[in-house]
Amino acid sequence: MKAIILVGYDDSRLRPLTLFKPKPLIEFGNKRIIDHQLDALVEAGVRHVIVAATYTFQGVELEKGLKAFVLKNQIKLTVSVETEPLGTAGPLALARKYLEGDSEPFFVLNSDIICDFPFKDMLEFHKNHGCEGTIAVTKVEEPSKYGVVTYDDKGQIGSFMEKPQEFVSNKINAGLYILNSKVLDRIELRPTSIEKEIFPVMAASQQLYAYELKGYWMDIGQPKDFLTGMCLYLQSERQKPDTKLKFKTGAGIVGNVLMDDSVKVGSNCRIGPNVTIGKDVVIKDGVCIKRCTVLSGSKIGSHSWLDNCIVGWNCKISNEVYLINGAILGESVNVYPRVTNNGGRVYHGAL
Ligand code: GDD
Ligand code: MG
Repeated sequence: MKAIILVGYDDSRLRPLTLFKPKPLIEFGNKRIIDHQLDALVEAGVRHVIVAATYTFQGVELEKGLKAFVLKNQIKLTVSVETEPLGTAGPLALARKYLEGDSEPFFVLNSDIICDFPFKDMLEFHKNHGCEGTIAVTKVEEPSKYGVVTYDDKGQIGSFMEKPQEFVSNKINAGLYILNSKVLDRIELRPTSIEKEIFPVMAASQQLYAYELKGYWMDIGQPKDFLTGMCLYLQSERQKPDTKLKFKTGAGIVGNVLMDDSVKVGSNCRIGPNVTIGKDVVIKDGVCIKRCTVLSGSKIGSHSWLDNCIVGWNCKISNEVYLINGAILGESVNVYPRVTNNGGRVYHGAL
């Protein structure tokens, strides 16, 4: 089977992290976002992954970044690069020759989604209803930011509306689809929104079904949602008897904490709840970290306080620093002693 992953512009929402690498290559829970998706696709039997990149440099970085995964899993990877952004449907037309090769349906994934990815179950649902498309749906409290769907008790979608101003339903498009190759006949090779131009028409012709996701779901394309998604991911994995994650326990560890084995922690620290700490991070004495992602190679000076923030790669945080309230550091940022950053974004350099 095949899958296509849509990678748009590395827009400003997750900056400064996206200045340094394409969003799918950013680590979420100590594993790159795209690896969460690829592992689940391979597990469901996908053997050819098409990454739809918006520009050349992004495509090159993704190809380089995925080389090891491709070799290890013996899958085929095609990076399909657009000459202009083709939206969320146009990339399928561009990759048509790869997608329509056999009679099998294919998966389509937004690249900024995190959940349990129940692809096998979703595929069974798709085959059972026998129509052209299935979209995964989930329930949210603020549906106006998403594609909103209504459907009957069999899952047949009656309407699909992208980001409606008025309340229609709290069931939304979760950004994961299975489509028959027949759907490609509906898509022209031009910038096209699958949500505005294709799904509403498929719904009207009764060819689109909703598969209800169980468990957590999050679009992690914005810092606030990235951190909320991290909390949900850790909680969900913690509850699984067969989780592969090694949660940290011991003195000074509170709640769900993931720490790479290479991390060094000083004395009298309090870490957690809801913290992920990447490779080669060094944490000095008396540090407090909660609800944070700390990416690889960063150093955190003694008695610093990190709450609700994202620390990028190879940053050097001095002593008694306060990073709070949604602060984000990019790559190799130096933070001087006793600095407070309340929700600011620091791209590079010193603070
Ligand atoms: N290749 C390519 N080219 N990919 C694109 C382009 C493009 O021109 N534009 C956007 N994408 C990719 C994005 O990188 C993302 O993976 C996906 O398409 C969706 O775009 P977003 O910009 O993240 O859209 P959104 O989050 O506002 O809304 C979408 O996701 C929601 C779920 O999180 C829609 O699909 C909504 O209907 C959905 O509810
Ligand atoms: Mg998104």
